Amino acid sequence: MRNEGITVTEPMEDRQGQALELTGAEGPGRKLYIETYGCQMNFSDSGIVASVLGAEGFSTTTEMEEADVALVNTCSIRDNAEKRIRGRLDVLRLAKRNRPKMVIGVMGCMAERLKTRLLEEEKLVDIVVGPDSYRDLPNLVREATSGQQAVNVLLSREETYADISPVRLGGNGVSAFISITRGCDNMCSFCVVPFTRGRERSRNPGSIVEEARQLFKKGYREVTLLGQNVDSYLWGGGGWKKDILARNDLSDTVNFAELLVTVAKVDPDLRVRFSTSHPKDMDDDVLHAMAKYENICSYIHLPVQSGSTRLLGLMNRGYTREWYLERIRKIRETVPDCGISTDIITGFCTETKEDHKDTLGLMGEVGYDSAYMFKYSERPATAAARNMEDDVPEDLKGTRLAEVISLQNSMSLASNEQDMGKVHRVLVEGESKRSAEKLQGRNPQNKVVVFPKKDHRKGDYVNVLVDDCTSATLLGVAVSDKTSEVSVLEKKNDS
Ligand code: 5AD
Ligand code: SF4
Repeated sequence: MRNEGITVTEPMEDRQGQALELTGAEGPGRKLYIETYGCQMNFSDSGIVASVLGAEGFSTTTEMEEADVALVNTCSIRDNAEKRIRGRLDVLRLAKRNRPKMVIGVMGCMAERLKTRLLEEEKLVDIVVGPDSYRDLPNLVREATSGQQAVNVLLSREETYADISPVRLGGNGVSAFISITRGCDNMCSFCVVPFTRGRERSRNPGSIVEEARQLFKKGYREVTLLGQNVDSYLWGGGGWKKDILARNDLSDTVNFAELLVTVAKVDPDLRVRFSTSHPKDMDDDVLHAMAKYENICSYIHLPVQSGSTRLLGLMNRGYTREWYLERIRKIRETVPDCGISTDIITGFCTETKEDHKDTLGLMGEVGYDSAYMFKYSERPATAAARNMEDDVPEDLKGTRLAEVISLQNSMSLASNEQDMGKVHRVLVEGESKRSAEKLQGRNPQNKVVVFPKKDHRKGDYVNVLVDDCTSATLLGVAVSDKTSEVSVLEKKNDS
């Protein structure tokens, strides 16, 4: 095995800033260029926006120079995300010099956070539209086209875009995301999301299951149920979750475990994933559903953020180190083959050497398969920014992050080594990024598996015997392709 894999420290890293296009949707209409940053939810939202503007005759393009409307779907989660996006806005402004009629819009979390300030700070931006106002885009585009600046940053009690069938932009035709909740009520003290995406609302389960059904019909074989905190999903006829919880009688509600099972029943050949889980809300019913239904993938992304109970308290995470480890124990007991990943922040306010050691210790105890790891970045208006001092020096945050990444790299490699010599059921997503002779897909634990193409195709389930790995990828051969066990073993010895 080779230790050449690069650890992905940021989620969706390979897709940041991708200009998304609906392939085959060439048309005479106006052209929409849409660049997306941030989390999966933003990528999913870009599909909703393409759908809303598609109904107005827009088709998508990946060429900024031919756009009539250019949108940047933005992320505010860390300061470096915002800086990167400001850089892209400079590029768009240059493009506008050659194409003065092009309408430039900023959507997503930065739009919501900065509101009209964006218009002052970023001259030549025409539209500012927040995450709950995408239905208003046709009006906003009309206003902007007639020369006015157009803003809608209202957050909503009801909006879940349940009835909008999102355009699947830049996807692989095999796996798709389905948003099931919007917003977040958790108020982790470091996090800007509750301010940019509003309070938590759940989407009608009927529309979720119908979307999954339609996707399966179109040839998709995997759906990921998406939300800031999926375990907190609660359908009670619409509106804010906090209002549903205030009712006396919750007997007619649908919770996450129930939703998960309903989606799993769409078809045994439709894999179901979900993200993100919150340790304080992830209950045993979800684990039992995972154990019972083979098509619910054995994989949980369970952000811990810190291994120190003291810091978890300051972060307002709602659990202790011991509670978290008990959840992990329960996962391993109920779903023994479960892949587990996490998010970790280094250098949060007042973090001491001991707190940092607690984080490294917890990582070792859990043995994560992978992790997204970040330096703490103070975000304006959050409880941490208001009440705590960002007092860990940047270089110390960096040193601690490097230690966390280094530990995770070795654990990821060890985890992949454990998978060697085993057969994995892989859903093929397409050609390998490095070789047209190879295919790549994922096993249920969400690990990328690469193997020779032969006669296999995108959308197939293939049993792959893994015989090599890096810290980021499993490598192997389809079991049906090997002439004999001996030849596979020879291959392993040669490499
Ligand atoms: N600084 C650093 N990381 C953050 N995250 C959220 N807010 C911040 C912040 N202010 C990380 C958390 C979260 C992930 C999506 O981003 O780890 O789980
Ligand atoms: Fe932010 Fe916490 Fe909500 Fe995640 S659960 S979006 S970290 S407030």
